[in-house]
Amino acid sequence: METEIYDLKSKYDEGLDAAAAEIIKGNLVIFPTETVYGIGSDAADAKAVKKIYEAKGRPSNNPLIAHIWDYSQLEAIVSEIPEKAKALMEAYWPGPLTIVFKSNGALPDIVSGGLDTIAVRMPSSPYARELLKRSGKIIVAPSANLSGKPSGTTALDCYEDFNGRVGIILDGGECEVGLESTVISLTGDKPVLLRPGGITLEMLEAVIGEVNVSKAILNPVNPDTKVESPGMLYKHYSPNADVLIVKGDAVNIAKKIKAMYDNDVCSGSRPIIFCPHESTSRYEDMNIYDLGNDYSDIARNIFSALRESDRKGFNKIYFENLTTDGIGLAINNRIIRAAGFHVLDINKED
Ligand code: TXA
Ligand code: MG
Repeated sequence: METEIYDLKSKYDEGLDAAAAEIIKGNLVIFPTETVYGIGSDAADAKAVKKIYEAKGRPSNNPLIAHIWDYSQLEAIVSEIPEKAKALMEAYWPGPLTIVFKSNGALPDIVSGGLDTIAVRMPSSPYARELLKRSGKIIVAPSANLSGKPSGTTALDCYEDFNGRVGIILDGGECEVGLESTVISLTGDKPVLLRPGGITLEMLEAVIGEVNVSKAILNPVNPDTKVESPGMLYKHYSPNADVLIVKGDAVNIAKKIKAMYDNDVCSGSRPIIFCPHESTSRYEDMNIYDLGNDYSDIARNIFSALRESDRKGFNKIYFENLTTDGIGLAINNRIIRAAGFHVLDINKED
């Protein structure tokens, strides 16, 4: 299959019309959202949805998010809309927030991987909204990356993973948030944060009060236990390089990282250090990836940094630990999985 990339800056109508037609035909389209790129299909067409799982190599019990652009589409697929959901939608939709509802069974089983719930999000990206509108469909879309790899945040990332496996990629430039949407479940007695993202825990609690935070966000999940969100079970966001998170106070972290870095170089490895802009001066003459000035920058850059390091053949990544405040929780959730939970706490070393 030929993969055609439409740059939406120069081919807005052409690209969106072609993509909408492709969705209606039951095929896959890669499109930008404000969080990450998605690989989408018509949610109502089970055969089309199956193609997503095949293209990504995604386990079939890991459910998908239904993307909508108006509220009537929500009413058509859920059995109830709790008051807390209404408050959150009012505050943060359209935007990077996914809410898990009880499903009314209208969408094919393959969408929810056999669960009786359905995750729904109304994206704010004008490109994503226009695709939804022009196709007239609810579009299910996981992040556009091969299963286990860092999510795609540029059209190039998606092209690398899906060239020849998808007909159309819409290029809308770099994604604004850079991490996937926040996922909150409102199907139980208490709201549960399943995946942190651009709408932070603090922002959720400001609207609906206390939210339970799933333990799986910062901890490995035992595959034998029942988890609230099947996506937590899988290897995730992993570059080819080994990632190590280094924890401790800034100056000592830098000393420790430098020592390990020099060791790597001596043994023929190719290390790189990911750090916020303010730390870059501590690593003169070393390979570094400047993640930016604040947590929003780091969130926007982290997946690109992981992919870029693979492209350049680095095989060891050192990451200076961040706090879990605000979007820091989401960054930690992604990087700790990319690192396979390898964290070195220098204060706890002998
Ligand atoms: O920002 C995003 O959400 C992007 C863009 C493309 O919209 N999509 C995305 O989809 O990240 P995906 O499939 O990569 O992640 C969906 C997450 C998974 O962890 C999945 O297990 C969880 O949402 N999920 C989906 N449906 C669920 C459900 N019914 N109950 C619990 N978790 C669910
Ligand atoms: Mg994903």
